[in-house]
Amino acid sequence: MKSIIIYYSKSGRTEKIAKKLLKDTGSDIIQVKPKKEYGNYAAAVARVVREKIMRIRPAFINSIPDLSEYDTVFIGYPIWASAPPAFMCAFLRQCDMKDKTVIPFATSGMTNISSTLVKLKESCRGCIIKYPYNHSNRKKDDYDDWKAQFIK
Ligand SMILES: Cc1cc2nc3c(=O)[nH]c(=O)nc-3n(C[C@H](O)[C@H](O)[C@H](O)COP(=O)(O)O)c2cc1C
Repeated sequence: MKSIIIYYSKSGRTEKIAKKLLKDTGSDIIQVKPKKEYGNYAAAVARVVREKIMRIRPAFINSIPDLSEYDTVFIGYPIWASAPPAFMCAFLRQCDMKDKTVIPFATSGMTNISSTLVKLKESCRGCIIKYPYNHSNRKKDDYDDWKAQFIK
């Protein structure tokens, strides 16, 4: 399988998993970044809630990658207001995800990744989602068990 990791991390937790995955899979990697940074925790929460209510699609700095050579796309994000960050969804919407296997991974305080998957699927039209992985404050580190499902 030829794979790429597309991720965002504000405070470094999701990035740690992205870096492990990079080492373990030899994927290509892209970090998606918002055009306007989210600032401190309180500012970020206020903005994210506003974006959710207003259904805003925030701008990102990245250009849209050609994903035609990849069959698997790992997508990593912190869970924000029970969803993937809205600017990431805006970015993913513009990528051609048709028939790609998407393996999502997320970090969070306590929300499970399952609550983000409807939004993710809607943003990655035509993809097949497999092996979603969540690392939350409440869970032991089971990265190796997750990895074993797709790295044989
Ligand atoms: C704006 C904002 C919204 C968040 N919303 C949630 C949430 O809905 N549920 C949750 O469990 N954690 C939430 N968190 C906590 C983050 O998901 C968690 O700290 C995550 O691991 C951060 O990942 P990062 O270090 O890669 O940025 C939120 C954090 C921020 C900054």
